[in-house]
Amino acid sequence: MAKFSDIKGFVFDLDGVITDTSVFHSQAWHQVADKVGAPWSKELEDGLKGISRMDSLEMILKAGNLSDQYTEDQKIALATEKNTNYLKLVDQMTPDNILPGIKDFLDDIQSHGYLLSLASASKNAPKVLEKLQLTTYFPKIVDPKTLSKGKPDPEIYLKGAELINLKPEQCIGVEDAGAGVESINAAGETSIGIGDKQILKDADINFEDTGEMTLTNIQKQMA
Ligand code: G6P
Ligand code: MG
Repeated sequence: MAKFSDIKGFVFDLDGVITDTSVFHSQAWHQVADKVGAPWSKELEDGLKGISRMDSLEMILKAGNLSDQYTEDQKIALATEKNTNYLKLVDQMTPDNILPGIKDFLDDIQSHGYLLSLASASKNAPKVLEKLQLTTYFPKIVDPKTLSKGKPDPEIYLKGAELINLKPEQCIGVEDAGAGVESINAAGETSIGIGDKQILKDADINFEDTGEMTLTNIQKQMA
């Protein structure tokens, strides 16, 4: 693990880290799973975190042995329907949907001069940030349309560091998804996993929830 004094920036995941939208994604995917007749499970739900829209649909179809049953056009229609349902939930969001402690943490790291970027697989990230009134914190956002591979590939976290002109070793990546922690680690950044320690066992630092994530707590674990 890097030394705390080497850290110059933070690369953030969005869904499940900054806000509780992972619940909305799950809700909307669950509807798709029910519609196609694929079994829904906690494992599937956790496995979908951090995974792009079309790859998520493929995982759901695979869980129901249905991969060959849908044409490309039908798959796009299902993914579009999911997104429409997801956006209905996003539309109701306010800054109250920011997870505990996140606003203070963002203010704290910003006032200490750390650089910030966003590494979310979501094409809806700018809209979600707008609803949360957090847009000004993230002038640098990785555009998922420019990626050739999604999480767990390191590409998205490497781009997140590049956007703020830092080396990966100078960055901490923050994630709630197993695939995301893998991506951070493969990129050579220090990983913080927020949530279930079993699922996020590969993270350099674990916090049970966002409220525990403070500069002091991070420093203690990296010293
Ligand atoms: C994030 C979420 C995933 C979601 C993905 C794509 O990584 O954790 O659950 O599938 O973004 O989101 P989008 O909004 O583009 O469908
Ligand atoms: Mg996430």
